[in-house]
Amino acid sequence: MRETVHVPLGDRAYDVVIGPGLLPEAGALIAPLLPRPRVAVVTETRVAEAHLEALRAGLAAAGIEMEALVLPPGEATKGWPHLQEVVEWLLAQKIERQDVVVALGGGVIGDLVGFAAAVLRRGVRYVQVPTSLLAQVDSSVGGKTAINSPRGKNLIGAFHQPALVLADTSVLDTLTRRDFLAGYGEVMKYGLLGDASFFEWLEVNAPAMAEGDMALRVAAVKRSVEMKAEIVTRDETEQGDRALLNLGHTFCHALEAATGYSDRLLHGEGVAIGCGLAFSLSARLGLCPQEDPSRVFAHLDAMGMKRDLSDIPGDLPDDAALLDLMGQDKKVVAGTLNFILARGIGAAFVTSDVPRDAVLDCLNDART
Ligand code: GLY
Repeated sequence: MRETVHVPLGDRAYDVVIGPGLLPEAGALIAPLLPRPRVAVVTETRVAEAHLEALRAGLAAAGIEMEALVLPPGEATKGWPHLQEVVEWLLAQKIERQDVVVALGGGVIGDLVGFAAAVLRRGVRYVQVPTSLLAQVDSSVGGKTAINSPRGKNLIGAFHQPALVLADTSVLDTLTRRDFLAGYGEVMKYGLLGDASFFEWLEVNAPAMAEGDMALRVAAVKRSVEMKAEIVTRDETEQGDRALLNLGHTFCHALEAATGYSDRLLHGEGVAIGCGLAFSLSARLGLCPQEDPSRVFAHLDAMGMKRDLSDIPGDLPDDAALLDLMGQDKKVVAGTLNFILARGIGAAFVTSDVPRDAVLDCLNDART
């Protein structure tokens, strides 16, 4: 059941290995990268409790020693103070230019450790061992690394590709259903943005995948990573097509900001709601048939996911304030808001040509 997706980026090319039971074999998989049998692992407390010993044993089986730094969990870790802590710890561990740093965790750890690796000694290699579905299908692949500023999310960062990604699908068993489904928002996004037959496949298979079917999980992660790899290879630094990966994200970022990046709305939940809104907006603008947003909403319902603004607990700011929050998005170019819209399922495109009133109407509809 093991799959490998190659990301062909020239001298920055790497493999994403996907399948159950990779942690016990991490040593054998990482060993070819190492000039000496030693790695520095950065993780967070909850992930450490569940998986750090399995990783330690997997590395030891290949004679590799590890030191570990365990950070607090949560988005607040992804800022200047913990970046400094990670970098200074790696220096104290005498991690050299040829050594390898391992990021064991979800998107927060992957982004933070990737950025630390990008700046440490002007760049050391790192291995992503993503433990959330969201990190396996999105943030661990493609080399975007970042920390948050008090002024906004992911505003400080670098493109720094990993040297290897190990997506162990067994670890997904330890996720709560809510976290799994939030990650699934990003899986669904791939079908919606560029592969109608993958979306059809998900309509049939995603419920069983959410229940735990491992073969389906491997297949869904593989197809998602293939699509991400293909887009990143075309446009590594987001000059064009990579923005397609932000389907649903303009709405999502506004909703996350409006809910204070709190437990009220997880990132992947915001992406799922945002994908629905992007398709509603596309239908409203006459770009795609009304059946398309209806299909997206029917799938969200079938998966038991949030689909409307009214599914977000607590009060939200009014539509005009949400639109203003969209304007804070870092994808704003020369003051123009870019949207990812769709001409149909699997046919997304980037545009800045969106009338303000259509967006407001769409938000208003999504409240009921
Ligand atoms: N998560 C969007 C990207 O990697 O470009």
